[in-house]
Amino acid sequence: MSGVYALRREVFVLEQGVPEELEVDENDKLAVHLAALSDGHVIGTLRIVRHEHTAKIGRMAVSANSRKKGIGRELMEFAAAAASSAGAQEIILAAQFTAREFYGQLGYIQEGAIFDDAGISHVMMRKKLRR
Ligand SMILES: CC(C)(COP(=O)(O)OP(=O)(O)OC[C@H]1O[C@@H](n2cnc3c(N)ncnc32)[C@H](O)[C@@H]1OP(=O)(O)O)[C@@H](O)C(=O)NCCC(=O)NCCS
Repeated sequence: MSGVYALRREVFVLEQGVPEELEVDENDKLAVHLAALSDGHVIGTLRIVRHEHTAKIGRMAVSANSRKKGIGRELMEFAAAAASSAGAQEIILAAQFTAREFYGQLGYIQEGAIFDDAGISHVMMRKKLRR
């Protein structure tokens, strides 16, 4: 897990300016964490938290020099397959506004108004899962 937290700190705290005290939260104890590895180093991560029939994906991060190589997409597709096998019927996530097209390409639909979280504009997105 230390590699996952190190990457999240690098991306969210150092690159994006999220306050360090908000980056790790109580959901981390409940979540399933995915990690993409290269030479033993964590270069991509996300977490999945289940709420009954809904899975929430969060903390999606790929290290800056590994972006635009399909790693984020692979993690998201793996997460959707895992959530579906575990019985989830849909996935929700709070997308950073600048990342909404990344999720849109994966079939997530924007809903509701833009909101602020940790100083960053977000929008909720949802995808129904086929069983
Ligand atoms: C957003 C992020 C996770 C994407 O990961 P990635 O590994 O670079 O994404 P992929 O290479 O799998 O991209 C898949 C597709 O989405 C597109 N895409 C990726 N990031 C995008 C963005 N920010 N805006 C629009 N499209 C994007 C890619 O071009 C690619 O499209 P293509 O298949 O037509 O070439 C990564 O840029 C990141 O970690 N950003 C900083 C943290 C962050 O913003 N996380 C999101 C929190 S909600």
